[in-house]
Amino acid sequence: MSFQKMKKIELHLHHEAAAPPSFIRGLAAEKKIDISKIFDDQGNYVFHDFDHFLTVYDAACLPLQTPEDFRRLTLAALEETAKHGVIYCETFVSPDFCGGADVAAWKEFFAAMKEASEEAERSFSITHRTIVTCLRHLGPEKAKPAALCAVETAGDYLVGFGMAGAEMMGRPGEFAYSFDMAREAGLNLTCHAGEWGGPDMVADTLRDLKVSRIGHGINAIHDPNVVQQLVDQDVVLEVCPVSNVVLKAVSGWDAHPIQRLRDAGVKVTVSTDDPPFFHTTMTEEYRQLAENFGWGEDDFDAITQTALDAAFCDKQTKERLA
Ligand code: ADE
Ligand code: ZN
Repeated sequence: MSFQKMKKIELHLHHEAAAPPSFIRGLAAEKKIDISKIFDDQGNYVFHDFDHFLTVYDAACLPLQTPEDFRRLTLAALEETAKHGVIYCETFVSPDFCGGADVAAWKEFFAAMKEASEEAERSFSITHRTIVTCLRHLGPEKAKPAALCAVETAGDYLVGFGMAGAEMMGRPGEFAYSFDMAREAGLNLTCHAGEWGGPDMVADTLRDLKVSRIGHGINAIHDPNVVQQLVDQDVVLEVCPVSNVVLKAVSGWDAHPIQRLRDAGVKVTVSTDDPPFFHTTMTEEYRQLAENFGWGEDDFDAITQTALDAAFCDKQTKERLA
């Protein structure tokens, strides 16, 4: 079984992190921005824990300043993603990482991304949609302009709104205004929860933000009632196994709950989160799942179908990809 060649769908991929580090280094050099301290001698990102990871991530976004930067980033990211058999992906874009959520400016950024996305579809046979994500650690007030950026550009290409960042800062309910605004504009919703927070964080996210997908969600496993809630409400988890192991959200592969969640009837999908940061790819995720949980072709086919069903693109696009 060639893991690389298998057709895949990826729902949880941070846009700014999806291109190779060499792309970000090159852009920084062009703009004479010194971010050398975030790379090791081999040119890989270096960080020592989750908080430091967020700081390094922030620095890696410094060279991303113009629509043209985003056009090039999008093309580089989709070329890389398509190499691993991904035929459809959704990426999270955080305006707050790159100059702030100014609606007029971001209309141009999204237009440039869409242009690159269409080019990538022609050149690399990958279909791409995007999701605006606010950053939890910046607080609820900063989430509102991010949601507005999403609402003002919502359509075929910009299909969702979500939240990433430091999960333990603030409670989900504080962000309800932004999620309500996005929902009312017809956007689909997802939110990182249960990566660092406990099952209560997953439960509060479902209750207060009414999302259809949860980013990570793995800590739901610690409360059978929350697991049952995920099953009953048909919520889909965007699980990023290598990310969880590298960032130590779990103590190791043995402790990773992806199979136990599946066994309990939870709908799970598989993604890379921030591939170069965690030295992963979709091929590597598949290889690890086969090695650690004995997953075979039927398991991968099942999660691909779950991901296609849970994708935020329209029905015609899903039919074309099926
Ligand atoms: N932003 C990028 N990767 C993230 C993660 N794993 N958790 C929260 N925010 C993120
Ligand atoms: Zn993430």
